[in-house]
Amino acid sequence: MTQPQNITLALDGETATRQLAFLLAESLPLDVTVALIGPLGAGKTRFVQAYAEALGVPPESVTSPTFVLCQPYTGQRGGRSVAIQHLDWYRIGDEEELLALGIEELFESEGVKLVEWADRFMHLLPPRRVELHFMVTGAATRTVRLEIQWDAPAGLLPTIAARMGRPAS
Ligand SMILES: Nc1ncnc2c1ncn2[C@@H]1O[C@H](COP(=O)(O)OP(=O)(O)OP(=O)(O)O)[C@@H](O)[C@H]1O
Ligand SMILES: [Mg+2]
Repeated sequence: MTQPQNITLALDGETATRQLAFLLAESLPLDVTVALIGPLGAGKTRFVQAYAEALGVPPESVTSPTFVLCQPYTGQRGGRSVAIQHLDWYRIGDEEELLALGIEELFESEGVKLVEWADRFMHLLPPRRVELHFMVTGAATRTVRLEIQWDAPAGLLPTIAARMGRPAS
């Protein structure tokens, strides 16, 4: 049987978004890029704040990088230091701008990368990534489709679905 490559989860409030971020921060390989996709106010920055918090970074120190390529943080996991790079491509004008800022080198560097508005330059993303497609369904509710774009361990998505209290779909 082929393993599911995506699941859709209901996020019935910010706590659920936070819970998903914690689960992924604890279980994803550190070299998998996290691509965050969805409209304004979907919860992409909230997700990054919780993800960083799960790695020991105070969430209030996490704000979207606006005029820089990325905002770096240092967290830890399993007693080891982890570099975290937070990117936001909302205001990036074109691909040349990203290349001139050194996006290729950044993706080759060690550490976790989280990219808001990743769909603006999807072709520049590393192939080894997870995509989170957020949809706004209400004032406090979101739906997210999680797409695995690499050869992930078979149990990863079912485990996340079970821990989130939703069946894999
Ligand atoms: N289930 C939810 N998950 C995440 N955020 C939620 C949820 N419900 C309501 N919100 C609210 O939605 C807003 C999400 O803001 P956030 O800055 O994370 O969005 P964003 O996707 O990063 O937007 P932008 O594209 O402007 O960067 C916050 O005000 C948050 O309180
Ligand atoms: Mg944001």
